[in-house]
Amino acid sequence: MPDAAPAGEIHSDRAAAAERIGTDRKERMVSDKYTRFAPFYDVLSGEYPLYHAGRVLGIAALAPTQGQQVLDIGCGTGLNFRLLQQRIGASGTIVGIDRSAQMLRQAHRRAEARGWSNVILVQADMVLVDPGALSGRIVEAGGSALSDAALATYSLSLMGDWKRAWATMTSLLGTDGRIGVVDMQDPLSWARWLAPLARLACALGGSDIHAAPWRAVEEQCADVVRASARAGHLQIRAGKTVPLGTM
Ligand SMILES: C[S@@+](CC[C@H](N)C(=O)[O-])C[C@H]1O[C@@H](n2cnc3c(N)ncnc32)[C@H](O)[C@@H]1O
Repeated sequence: MPDAAPAGEIHSDRAAAAERIGTDRKERMVSDKYTRFAPFYDVLSGEYPLYHAGRVLGIAALAPTQGQQVLDIGCGTGLNFRLLQQRIGASGTIVGIDRSAQMLRQAHRRAEARGWSNVILVQADMVLVDPGALSGRIVEAGGSALSDAALATYSLSLMGDWKRAWATMTSLLGTDGRIGVVDMQDPLSWARWLAPLARLACALGGSDIHAAPWRAVEEQCADVVRASARAGHLQIRAGKTVPLGTM
């Protein structure tokens, strides 16, 4: 495991960028949104009133340990990095993957400002990228081909065909790799009346509130840890990947 990958160096993916041209209109609108709002994302995303709680629970459930390499799928501006660093330490590696160069630029700034030299940033579209090519680019950037864990916070529900992103994510993990998903649904029970607000927030961010991507953890992982927060609006799952056909 490398302990000194270039601090947040961004490895752009021209092939994925070209493929993106073919994505549908909604995908392009979502993509434009993150391009324009990247500098304001941390302030506008409702991090402290709402979404920070999900990443705290998600990273606790994923439980990465010292020296591990963790993929942060759709890492955005790097809001997970501090909590991940506390677990993996300087000998671990964070590989942040996002399709938005502007979001990655913010992540790069965060890593530089904190002196985190163990952060690798890769620009790739997780739905379109070839898993072998992505793994090659991680190695080129100083990481290991296979990671110990992968985390997706508030990103899979934005990806349209998130099952493809999931398949790529799992293919980049070593044996007994752990995987964590944090995402959103309608609030439950007493907070149901807040559902229109939650839907509006998700629509503004481009997420599909009905995607429920944590189902993949339920269906394909062992030893699943479950949590929820904000009256069920935030759903957290983490588990150990198992070889296909053994569940
Ligand atoms: C709502 S933000 C979440 C960012 C971060 N995970 C967090 O917890 O703050 C969603 C991120 O997913 C990225 N994203 C959306 N679709 C993607 C795709 N197909 N491949 C890679 N990244 C994608 C967006 O660019 C954006 O940075």
